[in-house]
Amino acid sequence: TKNGNNAGGHLSFDAIEPVSRSVDDLTVPEGYDWNAIIRWGDPLFKNTAKFDATKQSARKQAEQFGYNCDYLDIIVDKYSGRTGVLVANHEYTNEDMMFDADWFEANKDEARRIAMNAHGFSVVEVKRKKKDKKWTYVQGGERNRRITAQTEFTVDGPAAGSDLLKTVADPTGTKVLGTLNNCSGGTTPWGTILSGEENIDQYFSGKGTAEEARYGIATGATERGWEDTDPRFGLSNEGYENEVNRFGWVIEIDPQDPKSTPVKHTNLGRFKHEGANVRIAKNGKAVAYSGDDSRFEYLYKFISKNTYSKHDRKKNMKLLSEGDLYVAKFAGNSPESEIDGSGKVPSDGAFDGTGTWLPLLKGGASMVEGMSVEEVLVYTRLAADKVGATKMDRPEDVEPSPISGKLYVALTNNSDRGKAGKEGATETNPRIANRDGHIVELTEAGNDATSTKFTWNILLVAGDPKVNGSTYFSGYPTDKVSPISCPDNLAFDSKGNLWISTDGAPSTIGYSDALHKVTLTGKNRGRVEQFLAVPTGAETCGPLVHDKDNSVFVAVQHPGEGGTFAAPTSLFPDFLKNPEAASAGQFYGPRPTVVQVFKEDSNSGKGNGNGKG
Ligand code: FEO
Ligand code: CA
Ligand code: CA
Ligand code: CA
Repeated sequence: TKNGNNAGGHLSFDAIEPVSRSVDDLTVPEGYDWNAIIRWGDPLFKNTAKFDATKQSARKQAEQFGYNCDYLDIIVDKYSGRTGVLVANHEYTNEDMMFDADWFEANKDEARRIAMNAHGFSVVEVKRKKKDKKWTYVQGGERNRRITAQTEFTVDGPAAGSDLLKTVADPTGTKVLGTLNNCSGGTTPWGTILSGEENIDQYFSGKGTAEEARYGIATGATERGWEDTDPRFGLSNEGYENEVNRFGWVIEIDPQDPKSTPVKHTNLGRFKHEGANVRIAKNGKAVAYSGDDSRFEYLYKFISKNTYSKHDRKKNMKLLSEGDLYVAKFAGNSPESEIDGSGKVPSDGAFDGTGTWLPLLKGGASMVEGMSVEEVLVYTRLAADKVGATKMDRPEDVEPSPISGKLYVALTNNSDRGKAGKEGATETNPRIANRDGHIVELTEAGNDATSTKFTWNILLVAGDPKVNGSTYFSGYPTDKVSPISCPDNLAFDSKGNLWISTDGAPSTIGYSDALHKVTLTGKNRGRVEQFLAVPTGAETCGPLVHDKDNSVFVAVQHPGEGGTFAAPTSLFPDFLKNPEAASAGQFYGPRPTVVQVFKEDSNSGKGNGNGKG
């Protein structure tokens, strides 16, 4: 077995073997079990209708758990240890699996409104019994809340009120309806939730500007067709030319106050934010890191103007409203001739080097020639192009270790690296046609998060070492690691081990997407151990490690993707028998679900082992 030393916390396990992508089950280590906490459609409020996909409506969906849960946290109430709130993003919808095809054709407007309401965010109270580690959600909980594509947000920061954000429906440029494509996120030290608006291009039919093109927005009809149901999604519609500029931000939500108005923070820039994670610097400033998840995009950091106060939550909730914005430039220390694109480690034994944070915005002024502050924030990709930032292989989750302060950057893959007309291999992104991705470890100079200098090295170059000679695990023997591909979301346990969930492994190494633990220090540095595998068609999201509770939580996103309402390829998580359910007129297809995986033999409800700190 691959186990050996499990001194890294109470959550000991023997790595599972990788699982075939056709297996429709959640596979967990021996001695562990799992339960579904909340699924797409589960009712949130006292009088919310029970889920029935064959009788769904937009009104019901606005009060039920949304689709495709992604970022996840469970914030345990300190006073009880047995209550808390579960927060989850709902990134996008799979209409083929949600709707009967004939019904969809006959009811497109209502179907689109259901989809809009299945996007966004959920806050749900959870509870557990004394001495029981299993969490259940509370229907009608006081803090329960749904945020959808129609919920009002306040825009703050230097671009709030900009002409670039004004529409006929909002001539102030400060009030936006909804949040879209919320991918990963981060919980702040002051207990709010940050979430990244990622692939926003798919919702808008463009008018054909260069700025739109730089953000991937195409002209013509969108696949979702929302522009036919709500004119704001058609950017050629008079008065809605700027609607798309109102998406692509980091949002902040207070999960403790269901009446609070969520905020879009323009000071963190506009791009395809995977998420955002905050570290408090030695001088008290809040530093937020964020990746732009597209091929050849950049890594950013924001440094707040004001400082964190341990006991002033209200003040802390303004920290992301004002500050400086930087983008990363990396330099390798090995000769370029040694970086041949194969992933071969250079002769100094490491992919490593130094780097600089290049300012885009400093002291309230633009640092980019020819661009105003508002332009830098609304067209941040263009600003970063101008200053010569380093093009990365799809930066996904970017998260500082709560133990060491080192920053981990998940670079999920980049099949285009080295293609004709595209950038080739660099020491930071050392593989052409990078199918499996890699992880960069970045150390700020003096371990000071506000520094503009850093050093970096690659922690691992992913893949299946059995069949791929270009993998690297910081020197750990490649025959003793679990295969890993397409690193996406990151989390830490209370001991500082890195946990990596994957998105895309079925189409690269042929195994189901997974959750892995990676040891970062000591003689086992670089050892990857697979903890679980998600069901067929699914992606592993939102990992959350409460190791002191012997529990791990994941959002199982899009189980059965590729199947349809009439012919599902997954029955996760309830595994209803098709013929019985179908004859009862029930929906039996897959439901995106938040799952708790727990160790069977130790059922202590003690403590709150939230490894996210
Ligand atoms: Fe929504 Fe970058 O994954
Ligand atoms: Ca993601
Ligand atoms: Ca080197
Ligand atoms: Ca994360």
